[in-house]
Amino acid sequence: MHFPTFDDFYQRILFLLPFAANFRSNEFDYQTPDLWQFKHPQCGGFDQSPIAIHRRKVIPLSLPPLTFGFYDELFDDLVTVKNSGHTVEFKVPSTIYGLKPYVSGGLLQDFYEAESVHFHWGSRKSKGSEHVLNGHYYDLEMHIVHRNTKYLTFDEALNYTDGVTVLAVLFKVVRHGPAFYQPGLREIFNSLLHLSNFSSSYTVEEHLTLGSMLGNLNRGNFYTYKGSLTTPPCSPVVQWHVFAEVLPIWIQDLAKFWLLFDERRRPLLNNTRPLQSQENRLIFHRQPFLPLQPEQLQGLIWV
Ligand SMILES: *[C@@H]1O[C@H](CO)[C@@H](O)[C@H](O)[C@H]1NC(C)=O
Ligand SMILES: *[C@@H]1O[C@H](CO)[C@@H](O)[C@H](O)[C@H]1NC(C)=O
Ligand SMILES: *[C@@H]1O[C@H](CO)[C@@H](O)[C@H](O)[C@H]1NC(C)=O
Ligand SMILES: [Zn+2]
Repeated sequence: MHFPTFDDFYQRILFLLPFAANFRSNEFDYQTPDLWQFKHPQCGGFDQSPIAIHRRKVIPLSLPPLTFGFYDELFDDLVTVKNSGHTVEFKVPSTIYGLKPYVSGGLLQDFYEAESVHFHWGSRKSKGSEHVLNGHYYDLEMHIVHRNTKYLTFDEALNYTDGVTVLAVLFKVVRHGPAFYQPGLREIFNSLLHLSNFSSSYTVEEHLTLGSMLGNLNRGNFYTYKGSLTTPPCSPVVQWHVFAEVLPIWIQDLAKFWLLFDERRRPLLNNTRPLQSQENRLIFHRQPFLPLQPEQLQGLIWV
């Protein structure tokens, strides 16, 4: 019989430990979202996202528009897009004015600085939006994540109910002829072919603006509600803004998302969380004019 020597055993442990530690640290699996709550209790808690938004069940509300500060100014650095194993994302650089783009206005009480941009998608056989709009899943969903500037770091912001706001843009595939993109979307979609492996990154060649990630979207027409991050730790601290207008994406660009791989070299597909229940939350649809006055609404909100 053979017993491994202590050294043998010790060496194996040493070899396995870093892997095991890594494996536990930020691991979550889109195939088992029901298990997220065991390591991240907020995933099983209240005010979760995504949700279904239906135009007949939203409350029209006259609101000021969102203000897009520095959104249309050039970044002072090139954008580096990365395959994180769960998505493709980039950190938002400062603009040439030294400050990052921000949003305020609408229902927001504070200024929210853009931190990062990432995407959710499906597969050849399935749609990939997280939010459902008027009964439809769409092909792709982009999230622009912002931190309340009252808080110094994103981790700190996750501790406060007014910590984060996300702008969500839905995309619908067009099968004929290339869709017209502004430089931001064009460069990000082009970077995907370089990002197939987990942890790979690619620096785009052109200076971009954050606004050009929004294409020609109508920035004034959005739904807004209180929800959460759609990935662990699922912090219920997000004021969501889901734009009503849907942008086109060419089938050939959508297909590039389906070529990516995750940390375990499995195809990175269907990186979407299932719908969560709306419970007693209100969803507002911004109206530039006045179908319902704030006074009328007051009775509705805190009953
Ligand atoms: C993605 O979802 C589709 C539709 O539910 C399914 O057919 C496919 O196997 C899924 N792929 C992965 C890798 O989860
Ligand atoms: C968030 O709150 C927890 C619990 O109060 C605290 O332990 C942690 O340090 C806070 N994190 C940050 C980054 O402020
Ligand atoms: C991905 O990894 C494989 C093997 O590890 C390597 O051969 C390939 O060149 C990498 N692809 C890219 C685009 O970096
Ligand atoms: Zn997201």
